[in-house]
Amino acid sequence: MPEKFSTSHKSSGALPAAPRHVAIIMDGNGRWAKSRGLPRIMGHREGARRVLDVFEAAAKSGVEFLTLYAFSSENWNRPKTEVKALMKLLMASLKKYGKMFLEKEVRFRTIGDISALPEDCRGEIEKLEQSTRRFTKSNLVLALNYGSRGELVRAVNKIGKSSNITWEDIQKNLDTADIPDPDIIIRTSGEMRLSNFLLLQAAYSELYFAGVYWPDFGAKEFEKAMREYAKRERRYGLTTEQLKNK
Ligand code: IPE
Ligand code: IPE
Ligand code: MG
Repeated sequence: MPEKFSTSHKSSGALPAAPRHVAIIMDGNGRWAKSRGLPRIMGHREGARRVLDVFEAAAKSGVEFLTLYAFSSENWNRPKTEVKALMKLLMASLKKYGKMFLEKEVRFRTIGDISALPEDCRGEIEKLEQSTRRFTKSNLVLALNYGSRGELVRAVNKIGKSSNITWEDIQKNLDTADIPDPDIIIRTSGEMRLSNFLLLQAAYSELYFAGVYWPDFGAKEFEKAMREYAKRERRYGLTTEQLKNK
């Protein structure tokens, strides 16, 4: 298989066959807060703290790309006060984590249409993307104002009128153009759906659903997901026998 379609990856991380790219739908902040009699935003705040814990656990496992679904294109339809609070929290998190990315040599990037974000957030994002561009080993990808359908529409519009369009043409115009497909997609909070997240990139991703709310998802839960991943057989349409003879 040519390198760009190469789908298997063995990492030298601490755990066997660590995934190269882990994508997480960080869900359940609101319910975490509600179950404690707290306002939803408190759940978002606690959730933002988990980002660091999970990033560290992922790095320890040898994960090269960690993609986090932070704000979907549909989340704009939430109450204005919640959206505003989320944008404020995003700004604070970018500032807080920005220093850490530089220290730990983490490349920060985003997927989604960030042009719709508040100007201060956009500025901070661009600054961080620029200052961490030179790092290659570890990547944190934040999905902001992201939705797969919108991403596909943007890609198709970039390609324009053309015939004989290949998957490669589409792939290189997606927001994830130079990011490998996720090996595993984790969703917390017990919901079992993708909610417009990386639909095309998920073609052969392993799916993992954790029963805990995102603010309760820490290093232990992450490692549990990695152990489960290590047990999966990724067949890509082949038979088990074919895989053994490869
Ligand atoms: C995920 O938690 C964070 C965002 C979508 C921004 P939710 O806010 O969706 O929490 P629940 O699902 O309502 O509990
Ligand atoms: C998906 O969660 C988006 C993020 C985690 C950012 P939602 O809470 O928005 O998804 P639904 O509405 O339950 O499908
Ligand atoms: Mg939710």
